[in-house]
Amino acid sequence: MEKRRGKTITITSGKGGVGKSSIVTNMAYILGANKESTYIVDADLSLGNIDIFFGMSPKFNIKDLIEGRKTINEIIVEGPHGIKIIPATSGIAELSSLTDEQRNILLSSLQELAEYDFLLVDTPAGISSNVIYFNSISKNIFIVVTPDPASITDSYAVIKVLHNKTGRRDFNIIANMVKDEAEALSIYKNLLTVSDQFLNVYLDYMGYIPIDANVRLATKKQRLWAEHYPDTQATKALIKICNKLVS
Ligand SMILES: Nc1ncnc2c1ncn2[C@@H]1O[C@H](COP(=O)(O)OP(=O)(O)OP(=O)(O)O)[C@@H](O)[C@H]1O
Ligand SMILES: [Mg+2]
Repeated sequence: MEKRRGKTITITSGKGGVGKSSIVTNMAYILGANKESTYIVDADLSLGNIDIFFGMSPKFNIKDLIEGRKTINEIIVEGPHGIKIIPATSGIAELSSLTDEQRNILLSSLQELAEYDFLLVDTPAGISSNVIYFNSISKNIFIVVTPDPASITDSYAVIKVLHNKTGRRDFNIIANMVKDEAEALSIYKNLLTVSDQFLNVYLDYMGYIPIDANVRLATKKQRLWAEHYPDTQATKALIKICNKLVS
């Protein structure tokens, strides 16, 4: 999928509810504000909710594309700063495991997109065939992990399966909902120790986002926290991560 200078990043996790969609949408906002042309693919094909984070209700979605009724440009909706969103929809269980033919339609449509700087792919939690597929076609894999012990063990499991099924070795870790950077680093070291021992993979530390009440407040109001709380701790931390991505 990496044809042009654009960076493709798939954001994935073991456990659900760790903040993937929240990170993808706000990261796109920060990158967009920074004049980086950015796409979001909602790859949570059966419970997608990227549109909700933007307070939108798109008329068409990825199902219309995959079933041949619409082209990719006909389903794209535009968010703030020209962010382009390829929406999914809730409640389409039949897309929870794409067939080879559906994958081909999707991949060739993504390759038709106009030039971009970033293409961010938000996946559902866990290790379904779709999750493995979207990670396999993306240059960069980000794993979101929280201090919850279940999130840490599930992250390890996801890394292991993605490595075994796709041969990928490089994984980037974002620690979310942490108290401070010390906690983020201790989670990262924890993952590093186990994976060094049992897997032939490289884990890179991308940064952390603190637990921040303004994130929840913004989400409830269907607002982006990076937009509505530009000075809150979570926004400052995500800006740091975005700066790493563009440099
Ligand atoms: N840093 C944070 N501080 C406080 N709350 C957060 C933080 N990050 C995410 N949240 C909250 O956690 C909840 C889950 O976030 P989100 O929907 O982005 O998770 P997800 O990983 O995409 O979930 P799923 O696996 O169901 O797709 C949301 O209510 C969000 O506002
Ligand atoms: Mg999500």
